[in-house]
Amino acid sequence: MDRERPDSARLRLTESFGGTLPRLAGVVGWPLDHSLSPALHNGWLRRYHISGRYLKLPLSPENFKAGIKLLQHLGFRGVNVTIPHKEDAFQIATRLTEIARRCGSANTLVFGDDGEIFGDSTDGTGFCENLRAHGVALHGRALILGAGGAARAICAALMEKGSDVSIANRSVTRAKALSAQLHGLRHVSWDDWPSHLGAVDLLVNTTSLGMQGAADYDWESALSKARDDLSVADIVYVPLETSLLRQARRRGLRTVDGLGMLIEQARVGFRTWFGKDPQADDATRRALLGALG
Ligand SMILES: NC(=O)c1ccc[n+]([C@@H]2O[C@H](COP(=O)([O-])OP(=O)(O)OC[C@H]3O[C@@H](n4cnc5c(N)ncnc54)[C@H](OP(=O)(O)O)[C@@H]3O)[C@@H](O)[C@H]2O)c1
Repeated sequence: MDRERPDSARLRLTESFGGTLPRLAGVVGWPLDHSLSPALHNGWLRRYHISGRYLKLPLSPENFKAGIKLLQHLGFRGVNVTIPHKEDAFQIATRLTEIARRCGSANTLVFGDDGEIFGDSTDGTGFCENLRAHGVALHGRALILGAGGAARAICAALMEKGSDVSIANRSVTRAKALSAQLHGLRHVSWDDWPSHLGAVDLLVNTTSLGMQGAADYDWESALSKARDDLSVADIVYVPLETSLLRQARRRGLRTVDGLGMLIEQARVGFRTWFGKDPQADDATRRALLGALG
């Protein structure tokens, strides 16, 4: 998105759609090359025969505020927000959901007709919905690996559902900052988190460990300390079966991959912008697997 004047940009956009603007939404981030959101939302638009378009909108950090104002002016109904803009999205929102306020970040913005910008954080609730769909109870003891943006949203949502949540993070400073922010969140040391596995019902990896091209971990040895009824979730979805999930499956544990969270977190935005509650079913999952290649 460049710094074109709003009126000429609107005219050009309208012309590019043959004179009538469809309902528009999109995803803003920097970079955005690998985002699956356009495949997901445009797949739903086709499936439900909705005249709308969901666009990939690369927006650099220095242009975030001007870019959002321009999208409002162009008639967009809202956007999903991904790295590195989630905190800026929280700042620009004029109204926030309670969970976004607790997370201090927003991944979904809805533009009101009156110029208001509603900010929501749906990563954590999407994660919980997906666990529920897999039959995992949400009120037990959970150990979350990581203290980044995704961890913050997941911890806040699990705690809201009544989970007793602990985190372990490589950088102690970041772990302490998160546990100071979310009242009741415990913190265990990164070096000996596996020794806590005997006392938890759910293990969640929110770090980038195991992601394609990133570092990995000796999950096999860590999981040897787990109870047989532990559920293991990984929010990394490239690859879909991470080495953590593979080891957990070999150990006979219940596993949940990261694709369901991606689908669930998108439903709120789609429903609000396009007026239809989309299905998070096998067809949606298969379409995304196709886009993943
Ligand atoms: N499935 C979904 O819908 C979904 C949604 C959001 C994110 N994700 C995925 O979740 C992951 C994290 O996203 P994020 O936004 O939370 O990122 P982030 O804010 O950058 O946090 C990254 C986390 O990974 C940890 N980490 C990175 N390298 C590590 C290593 N070598 N050893 C131990 N810990 C390491 C970091 O620890 P330090 O604090 O010590 O650096 C931090 O806790 C990404 O892979 C992302 O693709 C998936």
